[in-house]
Amino acid sequence: LGKQVHFVETVDSTQKEAHRISQDGCMEGTLVIAEEQTAGRGRMARNWHSPKYTGIWMSIILKPELPPYRAPQFTLIAAVAIVEAVEEITGIQPEIKWPNDLLIKGKKITGILTELQADADQIHALIIGIGMNVNQSEFPKEIEKIATSLAIEKGEKISRALLIQRILEKLEFYYEMYVEEGFYPIKQLWEKYAISIGKQIIARTINKEIKGKAIGITDDGVLKLKDENGVIHEIYSADIELGS
Ligand code: BTN
Repeated sequence: LGKQVHFVETVDSTQKEAHRISQDGCMEGTLVIAEEQTAGRGRMARNWHSPKYTGIWMSIILKPELPPYRAPQFTLIAAVAIVEAVEEITGIQPEIKWPNDLLIKGKKITGILTELQADADQIHALIIGIGMNVNQSEFPKEIEKIATSLAIEKGEKISRALLIQRILEKLEFYYEMYVEEGFYPIKQLWEKYAISIGKQIIARTINKEIKGKAIGITDDGVLKLKDENGVIHEIYSADIELGS
């Protein structure tokens, strides 16, 4: 991964840029990276705060020969790769909050956004967007209670170049493992790094709220939640609030 690099100083969103590049045709593993995003985007149409020179704002274009329903697994593959990369570089192991948040002491340091170009039975391009708060020393008021950076947690600046390199190596390693051995070994690691598993949570979707215990993920990367009545729900997309 990252043999082809598309670097831009300022861009609306590396994710959008990756969609454009991919439509024009590019090699698998192309990395789109920027110093600043003016319209960085998160899940559920949220904004992603992406100030200049402080974080890692990048999107990786993969072309797995798989049906689109396998796409959510890639968010989990990326999460495992990033947890290990961050731990190796900083000595701090972030925890994963399903599906795509990496937290340190309950505050977010990384978000992952997986998007597709696909038809009904084949992925044409899978774009993994990674936003990592690395060297910010402060955050805007609206997010200061929920966001943190590696530098704040570690007490010193961290090399973004080293992190990017390690993330790409790890992602390539787990992507190859996934192609050869399937999702199971990665699922095991994911469950090891996840905080939500075994805990009471509230899963909020646009029109409902389900309370219960997170009991694991399915082989497709879907969250399994057991409610008070013992009914098991499969959650495809939701915001998760951690209970006690
Ligand atoms: C989330 O937690 O909601 C996902 C956030 C993903 C942010 C990254 S930053 C690089 C890439 N470009 C974007 O516009 N978004 C992703």
